[in-house]
Amino acid sequence: MLTAEMNERLTRVGPGTPMGELLRRYWFPIATDQELAENPVKPVRLLGESLTLFRDLSGRLGVVAQRCAHRGVDLRHGIPQAEGLRCIYHGWMYDTSGQCVEQPAEAPEHGFKERVKLTSYPAEALGGLIWTYLGPEPVPLLPRWDIFAYEDVFRVVGTTGIPCNWLQCQENSVDTVHTEYVHGRFGVYVLERLGITDPASVARFQRFVDHHHAKIDFKPVKHGIQKLRLTEGQTEESAGWTIGHPLVFPNYVLIGQAGHREFQIRVPVDDTHTWHLTYTVFFPGPGIEVPPHETIPTFEVPIRDYPDWVLGQDIRAWPSQGEIADRTVEKLAETDRGLIMFRKMLQDQMKIVEDGGDPINVFRDPEENRFIELEMEDYGPLMHYTPGYLKHQNPGPLNTVADELDDFLGRTAEAWRASGATAPAH
Ligand code: FES
Ligand SMILES: [Fe+2]
Repeated sequence: MLTAEMNERLTRVGPGTPMGELLRRYWFPIATDQELAENPVKPVRLLGESLTLFRDLSGRLGVVAQRCAHRGVDLRHGIPQAEGLRCIYHGWMYDTSGQCVEQPAEAPEHGFKERVKLTSYPAEALGGLIWTYLGPEPVPLLPRWDIFAYEDVFRVVGTTGIPCNWLQCQENSVDTVHTEYVHGRFGVYVLERLGITDPASVARFQRFVDHHHAKIDFKPVKHGIQKLRLTEGQTEESAGWTIGHPLVFPNYVLIGQAGHREFQIRVPVDDTHTWHLTYTVFFPGPGIEVPPHETIPTFEVPIRDYPDWVLGQDIRAWPSQGEIADRTVEKLAETDRGLIMFRKMLQDQMKIVEDGGDPINVFRDPEENRFIELEMEDYGPLMHYTPGYLKHQNPGPLNTVADELDDFLGRTAEAWRASGATAPAH
């Protein structure tokens, strides 16, 4: 249970708030390559600020204020040009630094355009995503977490707009035992509601019920908190207990299964909205080519009351806690100690920022940033794959490349079996 003041401190993300200032030390994804390929201008809201992302005709990325400085027309309607983005109303044009570089109706000798500059922020592309940073200079490096830096993997990104504060989404990352209920018993109930009775689908969720937690633990590590779990029937040597997987501070969790890893990224849009990305990489089997894609396949995942895929069940829970969960009335139990550790870590890091320091996971050394490896249990290669398995997997339905992935994963599993590889014991 928290005081109302502490809940405010942990959840408000606007400029000048303690959490807003902490979060402004990090880069956030604001679009996918595919979105910008479909439309080179995207209205963006991040940390309570409304902005415009664009790619000009020269391929440069810009993040500038939402509205034209002239008379406030929304630049989401802007026209990309070789030298920037042009407002549709009177044609003022801004370059990627926000500088006004053309005012078609004004006499150039007045030099007025030189005195007009929009707020702007840096933008970079990495791993098929477009990122920005709203914090103070010097701008830190955009972190090259291993999952973004892998080559020759099949990537898929599912996105969901969630109508609640980012923190309750991210707290899920250290809420270990929820799997037994929301993915287990609720998962089975969802199938009943949907009339899905095939044994493979039911087994998909029943296994969460069967994996009752014998022990859980949490360990502060360099990049966040390592989650350790031991389920009944496993030995203390199992990788889930000795290595586990990480909450990456402040807004990611890394999970995985045989042959794939997945980053769940919670982007704080404003105090009551979160943009969720499920960023999955599938590793090819020996000799299997990754199908070429111009951009990483991206699709929007809906919020459903009866979601028959794993993440959809988490996402059903989060906004139902309230727009901003009221932590003054919660009753945390013994199994919630990961949440307490995370909240303490957030407070400690806010204090570091208040004292003028860099919080964790702010990178300034290019060598360190070349490939930032995250420690997690090894689920080994994908040895068995049944077509259609993905339908209850993350990111969820509307996977625009489901058939292609089914084929790729089927061939991957076959290649691993033929190679004589063996899966690690769990
Ligand atoms: S309002 Fe944008 S150019 Fe006039
Ligand atoms: Fe979950």
